[in-house]
Amino acid sequence: MSVFRKKSISNILQNAEQEQLHGGLAKHLGVKDLTALGIAAIVGAGIFSTIGKASADGGPGVIFLFIFTALACSFAAFAYAEFASLIPVSGSAYTYSYVAFGELFAWIIGWALIMEYAIGNVTVAISWSDYFTSLVGNLTPYEVQEWLRTDYFTAHSSYEKIYGLLIAGVPFETLKVDASTAQYIEGFIAYGNAPKLMGMRIIFDLPALIINLLITILVYRGIKESKNAGNAMVLVKLAIVLLVIFVGAFYIDTKNWNPFFPNKIAGLLKGVSAVFFAYIGFDAISTTAEECKNPQRDLPKGIMYSIIICTVLYVAIALVITGIVNYSELAVGDPLAYVFEKIKNLKWLSGVIAFSAVIAMASVMLVFQIGQPRIWMSMSRDGLLPKAFSKIHPVYKTPSFSTIFTGILVALPIFFVDINMVTDMCSAGTLFAFILVCGGVIKLSLDKNAPKPKFKTPYINSKYILPAIFIITICLFYFFDKRTFDYYLKFESAHAFLTKLPVYIFILGFGIFSVMAFKYSFSLIPSLGLLCCFYMLSQLGYKNWIYFSAWVLIGLAVYFIYGYKHSKLRTKQENAL
Ligand code: ALA
Repeated sequence: MSVFRKKSISNILQNAEQEQLHGGLAKHLGVKDLTALGIAAIVGAGIFSTIGKASADGGPGVIFLFIFTALACSFAAFAYAEFASLIPVSGSAYTYSYVAFGELFAWIIGWALIMEYAIGNVTVAISWSDYFTSLVGNLTPYEVQEWLRTDYFTAHSSYEKIYGLLIAGVPFETLKVDASTAQYIEGFIAYGNAPKLMGMRIIFDLPALIINLLITILVYRGIKESKNAGNAMVLVKLAIVLLVIFVGAFYIDTKNWNPFFPNKIAGLLKGVSAVFFAYIGFDAISTTAEECKNPQRDLPKGIMYSIIICTVLYVAIALVITGIVNYSELAVGDPLAYVFEKIKNLKWLSGVIAFSAVIAMASVMLVFQIGQPRIWMSMSRDGLLPKAFSKIHPVYKTPSFSTIFTGILVALPIFFVDINMVTDMCSAGTLFAFILVCGGVIKLSLDKNAPKPKFKTPYINSKYILPAIFIITICLFYFFDKRTFDYYLKFESAHAFLTKLPVYIFILGFGIFSVMAFKYSFSLIPSLGLLCCFYMLSQLGYKNWIYFSAWVLIGLAVYFIYGYKHSKLRTKQENAL
């Protein structure tokens, strides 16, 4: 069936060469730039914001979640590095899936990556705006008006909540300080004070839109300019993160590390999405393959170095913040700034941290905004998207139309989405891509005729190891955590079943995968990457599975209406040449 039509690696490389001859992308990136771009993409909203809630739920033991996630990401990183050295073109996971699984899977991955890059950038832009507006409030006599720093729907629902309570007689002052209602006050004021245009209240997140516009212009302007800006931002944020670690280390009170796992494994697992979000980004650098001077040598190094550096930083930061204050205090949006506000004489540092958070998040946006257009460019070259998406600017040598389109796609949801939902969708899309890339490496390693990449993941036979891990895991739960074991065996209600469904799917998938690993002697590292990512996906909650499935279904409809026909046409044209 032609929906599973695959692309040969030599064909892809030939096409990329042709594009290069007809005015391709500019090649400016070396291993240092790639590592810097990796760090630029990784260190952002995750460590400056979402780590707070994860630490409050998991306690100091959250460092183990960081280490587990780093391991999972490193397994996946091996797969990305191997593919990037085998097929050094801009499409990243999309192109890798085209080679390994065929067109339909490639399309689904390209579609899922919109969740990672474009929707991920919506999250980061909104977080950026939160830090930026509080920075403006603290450093200048000005305030960004509430109606200019939130979205319409959040403001509307906050207004309804607070208005209802006021009508019921609860005093405004109480609502302002009560933990359960304080978060709605800003939206309430925004809705109440918003100017009206033809009866419609005008409410939007202006700083988030402005940063999106600035980043879009920078990325449009050139990869060299983007690289220089990215490198500078990385230097600033690394300096601040190191400062936080070294200064903070002197204020650790080891009593705060006791208990280390206050809420046991269940508490730790609540942080899976937040901690994973903190690592997302290393894969984005593989989209710059066509702009690297020596992609086959440098991309694998850049990916690995950036993960190692970020893991060390993350673990150190988690130890510092859970050592300075009690873990339970950390459920705040700006945990790094918060802990230093608590230390006399170090309040100034919290201002510096807020400033560096603004820089860090801008750099994440930069790399994601570089990644998205390059994936579309590759999809367009294959005929799956209109030709305009692969148009390269004659002077700036960047995918111009795709870059502008990305800017618009990131801007639109900023007007109306809820940040928590987009964070989870970003994690879901990324995990899905990682799973397919790991699966792709496993599949290619079974093909004796597949070309040999310059960077090869070390082969360890998983034949006995994976089935053993599967059986040991089930036994451990049975003997040491009977409650969890029984919980998954019980049927209480349809809703409870739905809640547990992702875990059931994971267990079933793990079982089947172990049997296949035994039969085909899968390579261990990509297999562990696939299983770890699958496990994290199962922890994202069934609602995210439903939303993500709906997204994939829309994608399939677009594929069958447009992509399928046009890519067939494109292949015919290629064959005729
Ligand atoms: N890892 C990126 C961040 O934390 C997405 O902002």
